[in-house]
Amino acid sequence: MDELLRVENVTKFYGRKKVLDKVSFTVNRGEIFGLLGPNGAGKTTLMKILAEGISYRGGVLLSGESIEKRRFQIGYCLQDEMIYRDLSAYDNLKFYAQLLRVDRKRAKELMREFDIPNKKVEQLSGGMRKKLSVAISLLGNPESLILDEPTVGLDVETRREVWRIIKKVKSEGKSVLLSTHYMEEAEALCDRVAIINDGKIIDIGTVDELKKKSKIKSAIEVRGIFNMIPEGFVQEGSSLVFYTNKPKEDIKKVVDIVGKCGEIREVILREPTLEDVFLQLTGRRLEG
Ligand SMILES: Nc1ncnc2c1ncn2[C@@H]1O[C@H](COP(=O)(O)OP(=O)(O)O)[C@@H](O)[C@H]1O
Ligand SMILES: [Mg+2]
Repeated sequence: MDELLRVENVTKFYGRKKVLDKVSFTVNRGEIFGLLGPNGAGKTTLMKILAEGISYRGGVLLSGESIEKRRFQIGYCLQDEMIYRDLSAYDNLKFYAQLLRVDRKRAKELMREFDIPNKKVEQLSGGMRKKLSVAISLLGNPESLILDEPTVGLDVETRREVWRIIKKVKSEGKSVLLSTHYMEEAEALCDRVAIINDGKIIDIGTVDELKKKSKIKSAIEVRGIFNMIPEGFVQEGSSLVFYTNKPKEDIKKVVDIVGKCGEIREVILREPTLEDVFLQLTGRRLEG
């Protein structure tokens, strides 16, 4: 494996609050690596350490050298867009091209490649603006790209469009570190995922490896309208979920119990998802 980024025992305090606790992982060349964790887990803080150079304890190496010397090789796309709303898409790209001393031909190329219409930013859809932000982070032709929750708040179709772009970046041999609290995003994009909660990495692996670690084999999901959550169940949107290793035996019991809590519309027996694994490992939900 060709290692590009090495994060070693990174610890960060904000005042007295420890927001990152000995975080360690590596990202290989050509890999999409995901940081999966709920709000407040420390994802943005870690990305700011890598891309903006805020203070920290521990070590970060890029291509075997201290990150402080190599930060220029990172493209960075913040959660908050850094684009100027009263400029056109192309003028934004040109502006950043100038800052980075990149030929403006590259700006034209990226407009074409990402199919971004040359309108004023305020007239672009949320998805288009996101694409523009990603295009800006690619201007300097970085070896590695850091994307902080690249699809948060986007509709399903636009999310897929942004995923396509991220996959394209990977296919060019670049590595991508992205944070997300969407399980489907980690499943769709990431070669490996680190589960992060409360500033700590809980586990690292491929999505399949992480799912296999799940102690439970099945989830019984009951959809409907309920007015309470019975003990031993977790709420997932409008569903109540019960985890078990003996689903066939438990399904009747589940229906009996849940039936007393409201109106059942549908009962589904399924394998645990990454979201379920997260819930088991941390006792917390990823979203909400
Ligand atoms: N500038 C800051 N000053 C103090 N606390 C902060 C600051 N930025 C983030 N935090 C705190 O650090 C923790 C991690 O936040 P963050 O890295 O933004 O998490 P995430 O991106 O995973 O949602 C949170 O508890 C947050 O309140
Ligand atoms: Mg964040």
